[in-house]
Formats: sequence, structure tokens, C-alpha cells
Amino acid sequence: MPEIVPSLLSSDFSRITDQIKAVERAGAARLHFDIMDGHFVPNITIGPFIVEAIRKVTSLHLESHLMIENPERYIKNFVDAGSDTVIVHVEASKELYADLKMIRKLGVKAGLVLNPPTPFENIEPYLQDIDHLLVMTVNPGFGGQKMIEEALEKVALAKPYQKKYKFPIEVDGGVNLNTIEKAVKVGADLLVAGEAVFGNNKPEESFIELSKRVNL
Ligand code: DX5
Ligand code: ZN
Repeated sequence: MPEIVPSLLSSDFSRITDQIKAVERAGAARLHFDIMDGHFVPNITIGPFIVEAIRKVTSLHLESHLMIENPERYIKNFVDAGSDTVIVHVEASKELYADLKMIRKLGVKAGLVLNPPTPFENIEPYLQDIDHLLVMTVNPGFGGQKMIEEALEKVALAKPYQKKYKFPIEVDGGVNLNTIEKAVKVGADLLVAGEAVFGNNKPEESFIELSKRVNL
């Protein structure tokens, strides 16, 4: 059954533990961290020390989506902070094989992500070396954007490889009550949701509502 993965980017950081407990009660199994450096994307968000602090208050699977240049410099910091999956951008990594290998060697799952304008062919050679595939359905940098639905085609393109290599396919950007069914239909296993979970100050109810749509 597809799962909702709350993105903390849209949560209220002044009461982050409450927000996490709310989605835990609702049934979340994973949390998504949007790590932005002000270079690869225009926004600046959270560093490893925040992941480390959150690691202490939850046992959920933590995935760190690195929207940063030179990801190889920081992979270890995010693993040491407690990430269970570290996801690198094909557009940001200079040595993608080496970066994926480093993540696995550090004992966590290696994720790969591509932006909406990036063709599927650019990631195809790496699919045998990943544990997680993330398909961006917005241009990264900010929460609350509208889904670029054409990008969902890449989920369908990745599906045949999944049988052989066993990675889950996750969709990130603009997932809400109106778009979630399209993402599920095309084959997404995991659905990142920021605004749709935390935007209305009712994360528990919103998570449950979204989960119901997945199970229709
Ligand atoms: C965008 C981030 C997303 C974002 C999703 O750069 O990678 O994870 O938080 O937010 P929503 O669900 O609000 O589009
Ligand atoms: Zn993300």
C-alpha cells in the first residue's frame, strides 16, 4: 500500500516534537527532511544538527533529501546525524557512483533524485546502484508549489526497473488531496507531502485524509 511521507519543511518548527507525534499517531512510518543550501536551490533550510535533534525524539525512518552542491562533503554528517536514507540529486553530484557507494558504505540507504526538467535517461545507468528513487514533481526549493504532472511519467518509466532492483519510488512536490490519486495510479509507493499535511495546522487529520485517498 502506498504511504504518505510528511515533509517537515512545512511544519511548525517552534513545536516540532508535537508535530512529529501528531503524524506518528496518524500512522506515519517515515519523515522527509528538505536540506537546502542556498546554492543548488535559492532557499536555506536545515543542517545535520536539526536531524540529530529530531533523531532523539522519534524512531521513524528519516530520509534526508540533499538539495545541496557538493553533496559528498556532507553525506557523512547526515548519516552520523541519524538519517536512514540519504538522497542525492543527479544534477548536483559530480561523482554519482562514488556518492551512492559512500552512502551505502556508511550503512544507510542510498537514494537518487531528479528534477522535473531532467530526462529519465540521465538516471537510468544508476538504477542498479540505488535503494530509493525520488521523482521531483516541482522544481525544488520551496514547499506549497503546484505539481508538475508531466514529471509523473518518470515514475512509470522507472517501474519496470523496480522489479529487478527493488527500490521504492517516491514522488515529491505538490501532493495533495487533488493530485495524490494520479501519483498513486502511475505507480508511486511513497508520497512526500508538506503543505498538505502541515499547512492547515491539523497534521494528524490531514495525514489520515491523504492516506484514505491512497487506499481507495
Ligand atoms: C521541495 C521539497 C519538497 C517539499 C514538498 O523542494 O523537496 O519535499 O517540501 O512540499 P509540498 O508537499 O508542500 O509540495
Ligand atoms: Zn523533498
